[in-house]
Amino acid sequence: MTSPFPPSSRPGGTVLVTGGAGFIGCAISTPLAEAFDRVVVVDNLHPQIHESGERPVELDARAELIVADVAEAATWDKVLADVTPDVVIHLAAETGTGQSLEESTRHTHVNVVGTSQLLDGLNRHGKLPRRIVLSSSRAVYGEGAWQDADGRLFYPGQRTSTTLDQAQWDFPGAAPVAMKASETFPAPVSVYGATKLAQEHVLQAWAKSFGVETVVLRLQNVYGPGQSLINPYTGIMSLFCRMAMGGKSIPLYEDGEVRRDFVLIDDVASAIVAGATSPQVQGEPMDIGSGEFQTIGTAAKLIAAHYGAPAPHVTGQYRQGDVRHAWADVSAAREVLGWTPQCSLEQGIDRLANWIDAQPGVKPA
Ligand SMILES: NC(=O)c1ccc[n+]([C@@H]2O[C@H](COP(=O)([O-])OP(=O)(O)OC[C@H]3O[C@@H](n4cnc5c(N)ncnc54)[C@H](O)[C@@H]3O)[C@@H](O)[C@H]2O)c1
Repeated sequence: MTSPFPPSSRPGGTVLVTGGAGFIGCAISTPLAEAFDRVVVVDNLHPQIHESGERPVELDARAELIVADVAEAATWDKVLADVTPDVVIHLAAETGTGQSLEESTRHTHVNVVGTSQLLDGLNRHGKLPRRIVLSSSRAVYGEGAWQDADGRLFYPGQRTSTTLDQAQWDFPGAAPVAMKASETFPAPVSVYGATKLAQEHVLQAWAKSFGVETVVLRLQNVYGPGQSLINPYTGIMSLFCRMAMGGKSIPLYEDGEVRRDFVLIDDVASAIVAGATSPQVQGEPMDIGSGEFQTIGTAAKLIAAHYGAPAPHVTGQYRQGDVRHAWADVSAAREVLGWTPQCSLEQGIDRLANWIDAQPGVKPA
C-alpha cells in the first residue's frame, strides 16, 4: 500500500500520544509512524482495557511505548527528559459513562488532572509542542438542543428518573437536532461528559496563553475492529455482537429508538491523523461522526441478522447518564480538515463482526 504521506506533505518530527495503546491509539499508530519520524506512546495499560498487561499487537512496532500514568507529575519528568514533541495527541482517559457516576473521582483525576499534569510537564521542561490534538466526546453536549413545535431551539436539560420511570423517553412536543460545536451549547449530563468538557477548557485556556495550536475533536460513538471485548463499561456494538454470537436476542433499552451516530474506527483514525498533520487548523472544537443517526434497534437488528440470532427485544429499562439522541453535523471537520467519513453502518458492522469472529477465545456475552 502506498503511504498517504508523500515526502513533500510528511510533517516529520516527533508525535507524543497519550493513551496510545488503546482502541483509537492503536488504529492511528501506523499512519502516525508513516507521517512522523518518532512516535512515543504514554499509556498505563489500564487493566480494564488491557487484560494481559502486555503491549497490544495492534500497536505499530515503530511506536515506542512508555508504560506510565498521565496523572503523575513524575511521568512527565521521565518522558520529557528524553522526548521533545512537535505534536501531542491526548487520548488517555477513563471512558465509562455509567461508571463515571459511581467513580467520579477516578474519572476526574485521570481526565482533568491527567490533562493538567501533561500541560504542566510541557511547561516545566520548556517543551511546548506546535499543536495538541484532544479526543473530546459528544458527551459534552448532554441531551443537546431540541426544537419545539414552533421551530425554536431549546435545551431540555437532563432527563430525570421520574419521567424515565414513566417510560417518557423523549421531550414531549419537541424534536432533537444534530450536535454542532459552533451552535450547540455544551451541557453534560454525565460525570464523564463533564470531565471531557473540563479537559477542553483547561487545554484551550492553556494553549491560547502559550500560542500552541489546538485541534479538539468531539467524537460520536466509535466502533469497529480493535475495540475492547472485555471492558464492561464501553462498546455497545461489540457487546451486541457477543450476545448475538451466543444466539441471544439483544435487549434494547428504553423503546429501542435511541439514536446514535456510529462512526467506524477507520473514519475516526483518519480525522485524528488529519488533525495532527494538516498544515492549518482553526482551534475551535469540531464534531466527528458518520454525520447520520441510526437507532440502536437498527444496529442491533443488523448484528442479529449477521449472526442469525433471534430478533432484538425492547426491555423498557434505562441507564442513568445516557442521553436520548445524539448525532453530529460534521461540516466543520469537512471544511477545516478536508476529512469525510467513508463507511456505512452495514459495512462497519460486517467489519466488526468479521474481526470479532477471527479473535481467539472470544466468549459470547
Ligand atoms: N471510543 C469512543 O467511542 C470514544 C468516543 C468519544 C471520545 N472518545 C475519547 O477517545 C479517547 C480514546 O478512547 P478509546 O476508545 O481509545 O479508549 P480506550 O479505553 O481503548 O483507550 C484509552 C487508553 O488510555 C489508557 N489510560 C487510561 N488511563 C490512563 C492513565 N491514567 N495514564 C495513562 N494511560 C491511561 C488505557 O490504558 C487505554 O490504553 C478517550 O479520550 C475517549 O474519551 C472515545
